[in-house]
Amino acid sequence: MKKPAVFLDRDGTLIEDAGFLRDAAQVSFYPQAIAALRRLGDFALFIVTNQCGIAKGHIHPEEARAVNDHVVRRLAEAGISIRAVYCCPHERSDDCECIKPKPYFPRLAERDHEIDLASSFVVGDHPCDVELAHAVGAKGVYVLTGHGAKHRAELRVPGTVVADIGAAADVIERAHAVAILRAEGIVAFPTETVYGLGADALSEAAVRRVFHVKGRPATHPLIVHFGDASLMAEWAAYVPNAARRLAERFWPGPLTLVLPASTRVPAIVTGGQDSVGLRVPRHPMALALLREFGGGIAAPSANRFGRVSPTTAEHVRQDLGSDVDFVLDGGACAVGIESTIVSLTSEIPAILRPGGVTQEEIEATLGRKVPVAQTSNVRTPGQMKTHYAPRAAVVLVPPEELEQRAEELRKQGRQVRVLSAKDVAPHVLFTSLRRADDAGVEFILASAPPEQGLGLAVADRLRKAAHPRTSKE
Ligand code: TXA
Ligand code: MG
Repeated sequence: MKKPAVFLDRDGTLIEDAGFLRDAAQVSFYPQAIAALRRLGDFALFIVTNQCGIAKGHIHPEEARAVNDHVVRRLAEAGISIRAVYCCPHERSDDCECIKPKPYFPRLAERDHEIDLASSFVVGDHPCDVELAHAVGAKGVYVLTGHGAKHRAELRVPGTVVADIGAAADVIERAHAVAILRAEGIVAFPTETVYGLGADALSEAAVRRVFHVKGRPATHPLIVHFGDASLMAEWAAYVPNAARRLAERFWPGPLTLVLPASTRVPAIVTGGQDSVGLRVPRHPMALALLREFGGGIAAPSANRFGRVSPTTAEHVRQDLGSDVDFVLDGGACAVGIESTIVSLTSEIPAILRPGGVTQEEIEATLGRKVPVAQTSNVRTPGQMKTHYAPRAAVVLVPPEELEQRAEELRKQGRQVRVLSAKDVAPHVLFTSLRRADDAGVEFILASAPPEQGLGLAVADRLRKAAHPRTSKE
């Protein structure tokens, strides 16, 4: 399979542009460069640099090579592999064929490294970098570091303009994710609640793969995510006033509205029901992805069925490995607990799952009581008692008994971990459960917090985790 590439300009893009560089000691990487390139693991990376100082006699070819070698070595030490450094030693008046923006080097890469130029990128701080992208049918990303700010007005061909190499990596990752979604692949992405495992909501094949990878029964519906509340009317058969009010107040944010489904929602997304869960998340990376994609992304949490939801990209990789086509890394989730699900399919609104928006906030917005549904005829895995379960047995005990109970178990030779009130704070709860599992403990002892505010959702997840696994429903 042909690979997409990123062709990186050197000076002013990866390292500071300090004139003609003669030796390694003069090389200074931009602080964001290494972390940015690490995120581009799906791409073949090349450096393409014009070093006219060689033709002008300011630097010796060997000096230029030493600097390039140093850059490659430093990146290799950071786990980043550069396939080749393409260096043009000429000046424009030489009329060589390799100077940017002439397509010579990307074509070499295409030939020698099986690169798909149409899905590739060129990043640089000079208009010639964006023109190079144009010349080979790739996408150009113009950075404002180096000479970028100075030459910006000379940019004649379309390219995305960003602050620096870090922001360039964001653009590249996002475009890559969108391309995968359009090709009916599946992509894990961050939201402020937990990571989602996304597919084009209109692609039955892609949604089917999500169910398969997650190991989730086909009757359990997925939430459709989109980037703008105005799209709600496309996915819902009608939008009750209460939905409008909640969306206005909490979107983008950790709230899912269950509404009567419009006819465009594929049955595979709703699990054959006539309602659909809708949400606009507020994580900037999720919002940007959804807006660029344009359509709806059907996504459950990006964990295997019945396990703890992932709140970092690393959790997703541990759970799903290569079963997912791409993982967008947006850091740790700020809320850390799933969205609140409010059903508005009947006259009386109900909370189907407590989550990142509190019951109190919802009641205040609607000006009425909104009960937490205890039972439901809807098959929501969030309502299965065995959901959110770590491998270890979770035991809930009152706070004053925690230490004593732990001691008793330890005396029996058991591996025990006690979770403090801090460990069960919403944004770290799932990480705490995973860490205990990673440490291989048999028992996790915790106390449920008071059921107010986000405590309601935490207590809900802890109760479900604590329910004995033998009583699978
Ligand atoms: O915060 C969240 O909601 C995360 C992020 C990724 O958005 N998503 C999430 O998805 O937790 P999932 O699939 O793990 O849980 C969604 C819950 C499930 O319990 C599902 O059954 C319920 O929402 N749900 C989806 N559509 C529904 C519907 N039409 N009626 C009732 N419940 C529904
Ligand atoms: Mg440059």
